[in-house]
Amino acid sequence: MITVELKPIKTVDEYLALSNLKVHEEQKGFSNNLESFADAFAWLEIMGDKPLVFGMYHDNIPVGLAMIVYERAQDHGFDKLDGPIYVLWRFMIDKNHQGKGLGKAALAQVVGLIKAKKPLGEAGWLCVTVAPENHPARKLYENAGFVEMGTAETDVMMHLAL
Ligand SMILES: CC(C)(COP(=O)(O)OP(=O)(O)OC[C@H]1O[C@@H](n2cnc3c(N)ncnc32)[C@H](O)[C@@H]1OP(=O)(O)O)[C@@H](O)C(=O)NCCC(=O)NCCS
Repeated sequence: MITVELKPIKTVDEYLALSNLKVHEEQKGFSNNLESFADAFAWLEIMGDKPLVFGMYHDNIPVGLAMIVYERAQDHGFDKLDGPIYVLWRFMIDKNHQGKGLGKAALAQVVGLIKAKKPLGEAGWLCVTVAPENHPARKLYENAGFVEMGTAETDVMMHLAL
């Protein structure tokens, strides 16, 4: 079974290595790690809340990045849900490591961590929004138990009970 480890970023070298992970040209609209770090900084400065940012490692090699925030469902457009939710805001596997089961293993780790620890507080749902044309990601989330629940602007909204 393929394994992925989630680790918070602790050193400049780890930050730089994760900054260098890239997606395929046609996936650039879905993920950019420098933008994710900028978003994490802005989230902390503006919202005053710390997002969770994880490097994802396979055999100690950095292969991807995940970022999770905790907020009110309505503030993220999930109007049909109540209370606070976790949002998987960013999730990527480097182009050189895609298609090997790492995304699936990493998502299982993320879901397991949120379910077991609720590290930012209590919540009933883990949510994600996905571009409708991003079929690999939609399939990945669907296979992990996420259920589609309409659209926000143009994105498909998906949720998973915690
Ligand atoms: C989506 C992403 C994380 C998948 O990572 P990955 O390591 O390639 O995925 P895996 O190899 O673990 O495959 C997991 C599942 O994803 C789906 N999938 C992956 N690649 C796919 C493709 N090219 N076409 C259709 N489905 C695909 C499949 O359901 C697959 O499960 P299966 O093999 O059991 O059918 C990766 O493609 C990525 O980083 N994309 C760019 C960033 C992005 O779109 N992030 C999501 C933003 S919401």
